[in-house]
Amino acid sequence: MIDRSMDASHMPPSITSTEGPWWKRAVAYQIYPRSFQDSNGDGVGDLQGVIDRLDYLKWLGVDVIWLSPIYPSPQSDGGYDVSDYRDIDPLFGTLQVFQELLAAVHERGMRLLMDIVVNHSSDEHPWFLDSKSSVNSPRRNWYWWRTSPTAAEPPNNWESRFSGSAWEFDNASGQYYLHLFATKQPDLNWENPLVREAVYDMMRWWLELGVDGFRMDVINFISKVPELPDGAPTDGTPYGDGKPYYTNGPRLHEFLQEMHREVVAGRDAVLLIVGETPQSTTEDARRMTDPDAHELDMVFQFEHVTIDHGQNKWDPQPLRLSRLKRSLGKWQEALAETGWNSLYWNNHDQPRIVSRWGDDGVHRQTSAKAFGTVLHMHRGTPYVYQGEEIGMTNPTLTSIADFTDIQSRNHYAEAVEQLGADPEKTLTSMRPLARDNGRTPVQWSSETNAGFSDAVPWMAVNANYTLINVDDQRQDRNSVLAHYRELIRLRHSSDLIALGSCRLTHLDHEQLYVIERSYQREQALIIANLSTDPADVPDDLRRPAELTLVSSNYPDSPDTPAGMRTLRPWEALVFMSYHAAATALGAGEGTVRRRS
Ligand code: GLC
Repeated sequence: MIDRSMDASHMPPSITSTEGPWWKRAVAYQIYPRSFQDSNGDGVGDLQGVIDRLDYLKWLGVDVIWLSPIYPSPQSDGGYDVSDYRDIDPLFGTLQVFQELLAAVHERGMRLLMDIVVNHSSDEHPWFLDSKSSVNSPRRNWYWWRTSPTAAEPPNNWESRFSGSAWEFDNASGQYYLHLFATKQPDLNWENPLVREAVYDMMRWWLELGVDGFRMDVINFISKVPELPDGAPTDGTPYGDGKPYYTNGPRLHEFLQEMHREVVAGRDAVLLIVGETPQSTTEDARRMTDPDAHELDMVFQFEHVTIDHGQNKWDPQPLRLSRLKRSLGKWQEALAETGWNSLYWNNHDQPRIVSRWGDDGVHRQTSAKAFGTVLHMHRGTPYVYQGEEIGMTNPTLTSIADFTDIQSRNHYAEAVEQLGADPEKTLTSMRPLARDNGRTPVQWSSETNAGFSDAVPWMAVNANYTLINVDDQRQDRNSVLAHYRELIRLRHSSDLIALGSCRLTHLDHEQLYVIERSYQREQALIIANLSTDPADVPDDLRRPAELTLVSSNYPDSPDTPAGMRTLRPWEALVFMSYHAAATALGAGEGTVRRRS
């Protein structure tokens, strides 16, 4: 095995601080390959397409790329249903192209994370085929098979996260298997040490190829309460709530520590391991990201992206800004001393932020920049999801044919076809938060199919691509793209932004998002009006202080906090003390002072 623990050649040049691990100053970028860039004219994005766009990512300032799954897969859940963990789906390329990609990423001083999906495999993975082949198969116990007392009823009342029972009946053996997601995604049985060893072996194999870390898919579901007890009944459904029995289960920390020992130990300094951990509390996250625990470096928590869910995600509610601030403020506080936050608004499972909580009409650009500013000025590692940096919006999803995601389609089928719900009402409830919103192809240019592909794209390009695209925004100093680039640069050039303490204030205010940062003797004040109405600035925020403006999304914002009276719609300002501002802007302190 190649020991790269001491190898500094992989260190991106932009990350030079000696304080703490490299990823504390890094900005990550998520690629959902099927929608990123098609290079071979089949309407689906691929690895060569990613290679072709690496210079763009470097120009943007990206340090680390997270690649959503590219393994062989029946693609029933966009590749999160893996049928071979050690190869590349022909849809995306070959292992050789993957190695070219990895080399090209490293040449540019960036790093690459693989998406590891091991709570479940595809039902077409040889492990499952073997497991299913006979009750006596040596791999039977690699998955969760159960006999039900009454064969007509599943072994317990858990609901699949993609609708319906979490159990699928297998005629041949008369047993059921567990699938927390689609029926084609059977859950692996982590109680079995052979499963764990097979997973670790596979992860080591990717590290030997040279990847720089992993994003671990729903990793906090791997330990289940082995008795798989019924969950408490959930109102209005025939199911019980199984989450308490499969989320952050009894052996989770043991498994994560074992994984660390078997895969990561000795290379901690160069790798980044990020876990996707739905339903985790701040306490869970602190435990998992405590460096002394040797589990994960950071997690994706879900509290802030479920804040506008009513009964569930199909019951969308308007955002209350005070709730968002209380939530993210709590996470900042909880992980201030121990652990680390990842920061995100968007990914392939979320609608576009500018459509979700911004204004994708009149104030599209300003509100996209405001959300960028707010996110990037927190303490933590920001993740930019492809297209977010140009303010891509939700598409128009008219009929069920426009939804391609299995979660959306299963929900519609259950609601309309099985339960007789009104089709139009069902679609109305699905449009705001469906995962399809985040999956339209990246809008590169105003050419055919937004420059994504020469062929008909697998999913329709958003009709607004002539208005919103990378090419145009690269020419425009005031674009959303230029703003994101500036935000990334601020993190790289400023210890205050990367490492400083972070406190949210004015929590009850329903328009203003206010963040105070401080590091050694330097300070920053971030204030954003996250609404379409003007917002009066409270007097205490205008207090005379030695702060100067370093970023704004209006051309004529005041140079000092004292100059603020009313913030205009979606106006977002970053002020810093002179020395910090000079460092952040790469200017002499005198230049910065003269601004005020
Ligand atoms: C994660 C992925 C999501 C996928 C699910 C099952 O939440 O982000 O896209 O459907 O896990 O693998």
